Amino acid sequence: MSQNWLGLDDKIVIVTGGASGIGKHIVEGLCREGATVACFDLSVEDGVDEATGARTYKVDITDAESVETAVARVCADLGEPTTLVNNAGVNLPRLLVDARGEAPQYELDAKAFDFMFAVNVKGAFLMAQAVARRLVRAGSGTIINVTSESGSEGSKGQSAYSASKAALNGFTLSWSKELGPLGVRVVGVGPGILEPTGLRSPAYNEALAYTRNTTVDNLSPDYAKTIPLGRPGKLDEVADLVCYLTSDRSSYITGTTVTISGGKSRG
Ligand SMILES: NC(=O)c1ccc[n+]([C@@H]2O[C@H](COP(=O)([O-])OP(=O)(O)OC[C@H]3O[C@@H](n4cnc5c(N)ncnc54)[C@H](O)[C@@H]3O)[C@@H](O)[C@H]2O)c1
Repeated sequence: MSQNWLGLDDKIVIVTGGASGIGKHIVEGLCREGATVACFDLSVEDGVDEATGARTYKVDITDAESVETAVARVCADLGEPTTLVNNAGVNLPRLLVDARGEAPQYELDAKAFDFMFAVNVKGAFLMAQAVARRLVRAGSGTIINVTSESGSEGSKGQSAYSASKAALNGFTLSWSKELGPLGVRVVGVGPGILEPTGLRSPAYNEALAYTRNTTVDNLSPDYAKTIPLGRPGKLDEVADLVCYLTSDRSSYITGTTVTISGGKSRG
């Protein structure tokens, strides 16, 4: 097979949350395949990432002005974007009701709810609108929303997070109907359990352990019991899927979320 099978040389891709975890692997994968990449993240400085060649932009995706300014800068620096990967996301494990009454800080409150919805839903909307205006003018392009298996299956101790990802699935379905006739594809990527990323901080693990009534040490599931392939997913496996969905090789895929979970499902 030709090394250029994906043909990403003419793609200009904005990846949000590209400084860590899945996003970092997506940036690396896209750069390796020849795409021009702009990494938007809270935790980077404006510049160029020497390891990959990606341009980095310090952006808060929950802030409309920050988003508009950064997208305009990408157009000036690199050219009109062809693709947006809405990857940035946050997760605070919280119970609806702390029935044991031992850790009220792990009961869902408005602040945690607003934080998750601001990044996972409002941030994705602001980014999509700023980029889609340009894709529609060009008459082509792709928006890829990184959601989660929990967005379709729910998750104990992660109701607000999974609801935010279900909202993202709704965006994928609706935007694909609005933008398909204008030449723009919208696809979701829904990972299951993966190798650790920045999202799984010690604070995250402690909160998740409490909400699941277990200890941090016992959090790792017996993968063989829940995942038919018997292991967590690799970040590069998610990145490979995003590279494929960025490519015109996936030109008939829109309005759906591709689950990447090693076969893990409800049953
Ligand atoms: N890790 C998993 O197992 C897993 C599973 C399913 C879905 N996901 C989803 O994958 C995506 C990436 O997760 P990850 O595990 O790689 O997380 P991560 O914490 O390693 O990386 C997230 C990145 O997003 C950035 N970010 C956060 N808020 C931002 C903001 N307001 N503006 C700009 N950047 C911001 C962070 O600085 C960070 O670099 C998320 O949407 C997450 O919900 C992750």
